Parts: sequence; structure tokens; C-alpha cells
Amino acid sequence: MVLGARRPTNKLCMWVLGAAFGLVFGGCSDDITYYAAADATVDSTYTFPDTSVDTVAPSPDSSVDTTAPTPDSGVDAAAPTPDSGVDAAAPSPDTSVDAVAPSPDASVDGPQLTGNEYIGGLIWNKYWEIRATGNGILPTGLAATDVDFIRCKACHGWDALGASGGYVRRTSNATRPAPSVGSDLSAKLATATTADVLNAGGRAFTTLDDTHPDYSLSGGGLSAQQTADVVAFLNSGPKVQDIASLDTAQNPVAYTFTGADTTAGQTLYGTNCATCHGADGQTVGGSILGTYFSSDGKYSEGFHKLIYGDATGAMTRTAQGNLTAEQARDILAYIQANIPGTFPQN
Ligand code: HEC
Ligand code: HEC
Repeated sequence: MVLGARRPTNKLCMWVLGAAFGLVFGGCSDDITYYAAADATVDSTYTFPDTSVDTVAPSPDSSVDTTAPTPDSGVDAAAPTPDSGVDAAAPSPDTSVDAVAPSPDASVDGPQLTGNEYIGGLIWNKYWEIRATGNGILPTGLAATDVDFIRCKACHGWDALGASGGYVRRTSNATRPAPSVGSDLSAKLATATTADVLNAGGRAFTTLDDTHPDYSLSGGGLSAQQTADVVAFLNSGPKVQDIASLDTAQNPVAYTFTGADTTAGQTLYGTNCATCHGADGQTVGGSILGTYFSSDGKYSEGFHKLIYGDATGAMTRTAQGNLTAEQARDILAYIQANIPGTFPQN
């Protein structure tokens, strides 16, 4: 045969067809499908590059496909054994295992993770800003205006006392829930568990009511480490009620700081706060501290922010000098007694 392994022109095509098949066809276009009858012959003799690639390709593919599952299931079957072996046998290597382990493992190991109460305090405020499933990215389907329906503090209060604490008079509105009787966690503050926090089977993030959300939800819930951090915050993190007593009958609610040293507070304020807020507390946003500490719940929020800081703003825990609960108390008592506009003294 004289055909080249290429698509012939019409002229060549007609010539070829005439010679080979006795002018069965009156013409021929560039379209390869006109070779239908002759294809088998042509293909077997003159391999078109495309065809040869196509016929060869499936073999490696299927060989890959058939061999792949074996190593895979081998890995899957083998993996749990070393993992549980390590977890069961050696508590101390856990940290290194957890650090390497991907999320699924970590969630299994959840209760064994060591929580950081200071990160837990940040999560209590806005968990999606802290090592969340996406830093700052809200759970799927939740409008930015509705974030209070998933902020722990929005239902439980900054002090975790819910309806009995600084949020005693707070009511729900279109964009936030209200603290309910069940949201007072004071009885749980030494024994809160991962399961309490995750609340699997609770309401979806997009359902906007006062009930505890399901933070185990994949794609938007808390990671195992975050859950451990929140549990640590609840069980051992400093809270305003550790250093103050609350009178919810007063309006705004009044905090009385126990054993406060306002002289030490003044010194601490000068060292740790005045750079940003001014010696008189009037610098950031005008009379920010006076206005701020004049309404309900603000001492518990202020305490929380002095201790835990803000995840994204200027006022991080570090920027404020990593205060202890007692140092925060002294500063707050100093502010309460000396910054104009604060409640109840000024
Ligand atoms: C929309 C309001 C709301 C939000 C947001 C919320 N909770 Fe709750 N939570 C509740 C209510 C109401 C209860 C009591 C009854 C229940 O489980 O629904 C509760 C119960 C709890 C309990 C006690 C569970 C028990 O069995 O006693 C813990 C611990 C808790 N919440 C922690 C958290 C943490 C941590 C967050 C944030 C990650 C959070 N909650 C966010 C409303 C909320
Ligand atoms: C690095 C600068 C800086 C330092 C240090 C700092 N603050 Fe702030 N603070 C700010 C800024 C800026 C704001 C405005 C809101 C924000 O960014 O969080 C603020 C807001 C506040 C608020 C209002 C919080 C709110 O959410 O509206 C209080 C209360 C407060 N500061 C108290 C203090 C006290 C008390 C100290 C010392 C222990 C302190 N700050 C140290 C910069 C600082």
C-alpha cells in the first residue's frame, strides 16, 4: 500500500480510493470517518498516532486501577493498629502523635489533648477566628449578621454564668440569642467535657434560636484541639467571678472586686494600658473606658478581654502583659474608682 500515515487531501483521497476500491466513492473529504470501510485495514497497517495511544493507554490505566486498592486497603487496615497501640500503651508520646495526626485521628483523641485555656478564652469569643476550619471564615450558610448565634459568650455570657451573670437583663433580638436558664454553666465549671461542648445532634448553625449549637458539624465546627482549649477555659480559665462578686439587682449589674489593690492597679494601668489608652483612659475612641464600663455586663467583658485579649485587634493578651486574674482585678478596680463615667463608683 502507498498510503501515508496521514490524512490525505481530497485529491489524494480520490486517487487512493480509485486505485484501491474501484471508485466506489465519488469523493472524499478530510473527515476521517469516510474511511469507515477501510479503517480496519488502514488501522492495522498504518498506525495513526492517536489510535495507537488510545489502544495502549487503557492497559496501564487498568493495571493501575486494579493494583491501587490493594496497597490502599493495606494502609487503611494497618493504620489503626499502630495508632491505638500508641494511645493505649504510652500516654506521654501522645503529644507527638497528636501533633502529627490528621484531624480525624485528633477528634478520636480529643479528650486526651491538652487544652490551652487562653486560646479557649479567645474561642469563647469568636471561635472561627482561632485556628478554625478557616481563619475568620464563618461556617457555611451563616450570615455575618447572625454570628452571635454561634458565639459561646452570646448565650452563656463572658462570665459563663448565662442568665445569672453579667447578661442578666440581655434580651434576644433579630441578630442575637438570649441567655436562658440552662445557659448558666456555673455548676459545670470544673467538669465540662468535650461532649458537652460539641453537643452533637444540637441545632444547625443556620437555625437561629437560643439552643446550644452542634459544634461537631464537619466543615464549620470546632476542631479537636479547639474543643480541648474551650474545655480548659471552662474548667480552669480565669473568670471575673473568681475575683469579684456580682449584684444583679443593680442596674447595670454591679461588680465588687474582692481584695483589690487600687494602688497596684494604678501602677499596672500606667505600665500596661496607658500607652494605648492614655493616663486618663480617654485616648482610644475618646472616653472609651468610662463609656464602656458604664453598662450591663461590661466588667465581665472587660475582665475577659484583659485576660484573654482580642484575637485580631491591637489588644492581645501579650500586648497587655499576660495579666493574672489578680492583676486584672486591681486594674479594673482602679478604673472603676478613678476613670470618669464608670459604674458604679463614678
Ligand atoms: C445559641 C445559644 C448558645 C450558644 C451559642 C452556645 N451555647 Fe452552650 N448551651 C446553651 C444552652 C441553652 C444550654 C443548656 C441546655 C442545652 O444543652 O441546650 C447550653 C449548654 C452548654 C453546656 C453544658 C452542657 C450540659 O450538658 O450541661 C456547655 C459546657 C456549653 N453549653 C458550652 C458552650 C460552648 C463552649 C459554646 C461555644 C463553643 C456554647 N456553649 C455555645 C446555649 C448556647
Ligand atoms: C496595644 C494597645 C493597647 C493596649 C496595651 C491596651 N489596649 Fe485596650 N484597646 C486598644 C484598642 C485599639 C481598643 C479598641 C478596640 C479593639 O481594638 O479591641 C481597645 C479597647 C479596650 C476596651 C474596650 C473593649 C471593647 O471590646 O470595646 C477596654 C475595656 C480596654 N481596651 C481596656 C484596656 C486595659 C485595661 C488595658 C491594660 C491592661 C488595655 N486596654 C491595654 C488598645 C490597647
